[in-house]
Amino acid sequence: MHVVSSANHSRKYGGITKTMNILAGNWKMNLGPEQGAVLARALTEVAPSLNKTELWIAPPFLTVASVAEVTTGTPLRVGVQNIHWEESGAFTGEISTSMARESGCSFAIVGHSERRHVFGEDDNMIRSRALAALSGELTTIFCIGETLESREAGETFRILEEQLKGILPEVSDSARHLVFAYEPVWAIGTGKVASIKEIEEAHGAITELWKSHHPTLDCPPILYGGSVNPDNFEGIIALPNVSGGLVGGASLSEEKFRKLAEISEAS
Ligand code: PGA
Repeated sequence: MHVVSSANHSRKYGGITKTMNILAGNWKMNLGPEQGAVLARALTEVAPSLNKTELWIAPPFLTVASVAEVTTGTPLRVGVQNIHWEESGAFTGEISTSMARESGCSFAIVGHSERRHVFGEDDNMIRSRALAALSGELTTIFCIGETLESREAGETFRILEEQLKGILPEVSDSARHLVFAYEPVWAIGTGKVASIKEIEEAHGAITELWKSHHPTLDCPPILYGGSVNPDNFEGIIALPNVSGGLVGGASLSEEKFRKLAEISEAS
């Protein structure tokens, strides 16, 4: 039985427990405050029995408060799907690190492929978002991944390097708040999961890039994302360089998210 310990609280705004798998649900633009609270409450019943898996959920901004209310005092971590680099000001549609923290969030997703490819966020903007979140001690899930076009052109590793090069030299102390998510764009929401070999190679390349900048620091956890579901997760989470999953569609179903947690526990 997992007890909510003070250690758990102390990591609320900080470091990541390396021995735990992370199962992060990105709800995207789904579930308003009422529906979100129902799903979050159900997950609070799953989380305490997990010994090697942390459940994190990122609801839409307007759902954060109701989810934070039902998850307070439980091992579940609540986060936001994006974050601005300024503390306040004339930035319509944005929220800041302090607002996220005040609302009960302990992590932020940054650089999600939908932000990059649907909303046109570039590496510079994403770098600013990530550095602000990290300096505010918000755990930051930094998402990277190639498009199908780049993969077919043999450019996957160059793209990953390009996406990482803005932040790698800037993080050292704050690395304890950093999590990477490798999400090939062509695998997100398509039902087309990357192969085990593709995942292993991409995670290996990210680890190498990390080591080339920080030879003495452990590489942050790397999550895989892109059509993760209970039918394909077992092989993915078994990989030594995969520390968990960033899950979209399947995180909206209590049953599927619970199954993913069970697979992580058995890994
Ligand atoms: P998906 O989304 O699991 O629905 O493919 C993953 C993500 O976008 O993080």
